[in-house]
Parts: sequence; C-alpha cells; structure tokens
Amino acid sequence: LRTAAVIPAAGAGVRLGPGAPKALRPLGGTPMLVHAVRAMARARAVSLVVVVAPPAEVAAVRSLLDEHPPPPAVDQVVVPGGATRQESVGLGLAALPEDIAVVLVHDAARPLVPADTVDTVAAAVRAGARAVVPALPVTDTVKQVAPGAPAGDGPEPVVATPDRALLRAVQTPQGFDRGTLDEAHARFGADTATDDAGLVERLGVPVVLVRGHEEAFKVTRPLDLVLAEAVLARRRM
Ligand code: CTP
Ligand code: MG
Repeated sequence: LRTAAVIPAAGAGVRLGPGAPKALRPLGGTPMLVHAVRAMARARAVSLVVVVAPPAEVAAVRSLLDEHPPPPAVDQVVVPGGATRQESVGLGLAALPEDIAVVLVHDAARPLVPADTVDTVAAAVRAGARAVVPALPVTDTVKQVAPGAPAGDGPEPVVATPDRALLRAVQTPQGFDRGTLDEAHARFGADTATDDAGLVERLGVPVVLVRGHEEAFKVTRPLDLVLAEAVLARRRM
C-alpha cells in the first residue's frame, strides 16, 4: 500500500497581496512550498510527493525542490496546475502511478502542519477509513447569511446562527483511499467544493474527522504570515 502526497501549490495568493505565487513566498527564508513538501516527506507513510505548481513556474519549482532534496526513500514529481484548486488536485491525481493506494492531499499554504497530524491521517486511512479529515472545533460563532450575499462590506441580514458545538473547521492533509478520491474527482470534479472531502461526501462515502492541529492553519492573509513566522521562530529556539 504505497502512499502519495499531492500538494496543490498552483494558486496566486491574491489575498496575501501582490508578489510571487503564494507557495513560493518565503517563510523563515525558505519558500512556503519547501516547508510543506518537507512536512509531507517526513511522514513515515509517504513515499511519493506530487507538487502541483503554477504552470509558469514548473521549471523553477523543479530546481527549487532539487536544491532541497527529500529523504532518499521519497520521490518527487512536479506537474502544472489548473485554474482552480480542484482542477489542480485533479491534475496531481492524474500523475500518480498505479501502485499508489492511499493519497494525502495537502495545501502548500499549510506549511507548518506537524508530522504527527500527517501520520494520524495516514494511519486512519491505512486502517480502513476511505476519507479522513483533520479538524478543530470552531472558536468564533458563525452566522449564516442569504445565498448570493456579497461577502464583506455592507450591512447583511442574518439568516441563522448554527450551533457552534456542531461545527468543525477542517484542515489538510485530507487522506483518502485512492480509488474513492479518483471517483469523486471524476464524477464531481467540475462542481464547486472547497475541499476534497466535500466531493467524496457527494459519493455517499462516509468521511471521518480526526483531531487537527493549530499549527496546520492556512496562510491566507498577511496576518497569517506573521503568525507562521512566529511559530517557525519558536520551533527554531
Ligand atoms: N491552489 C492550486 N491551484 C489553484 C488555486 C489554489 O493548487 N488554481 C492551491 C494553493 O496553491 C494553495 C491551496 O490550493 O496551496 C489552497 O488555496 P488558497 O489558500 O486559496 O491559495 P490561493 O488560491 O493561492 O490564494 P488566494 O485564493 O488568496 O489567491
Ligand atoms: Mg484560492
């Protein structure tokens, strides 16, 4: 049962502000993507890492990863990504060799995920779960608004307040039985979903949550980068 990690890294990082594609921006002096690849390659289960790069940066990402080689037992492949995260994940899945039975999909934008979290997800899939998602309780109360409401600026009417105790915020890596994830992408890859498990749910396959980690947060806005630098500095102390 070989396990691969697919790392979607083809996004621009619009919310982070102007600059290089997000995965290539430095964190502690090293591109965020290199941290994410290391975090996955360190996991005991992972023997192949597929990086889905911005199409214009494939050659640059290949040489970057050559400069930061993985442990000897881990292979690395770089493929060009697509216009959406889902498309990029689909392109990564298409690059997997036949003998891969378990796939972990991990955002390049979560560079600091601890090795234990990766191992927990991989172990749950290898133990028989078809879809495993790391998650944490939600700390902010969440309000629901009407469909089509533009996010943000003006006053917005509240439609409902879901019970926070029943909500979880999900992270990556999300782990899957390979056949299940391939089928979910083949059938629903053109639909909108904000995570891979969301596609698998549409197949009617059970998805289970395991405990995520605060340090697996996604670097989305400039403040997240400040936090990521602080977490890294604390680890290096
Ligand atoms: N991603 C991707 N291909 C895309 C869009 C996103 O591989 N076409 C990846 C990103 O590189 C990132 C992950 O999906 O690692 C999560 O997406 P997000 O945090 O939204 O990153 P970006 O899309 O780069 O950021 P933004 O939405 O602010 O532009
Ligand atoms: Mg995005």
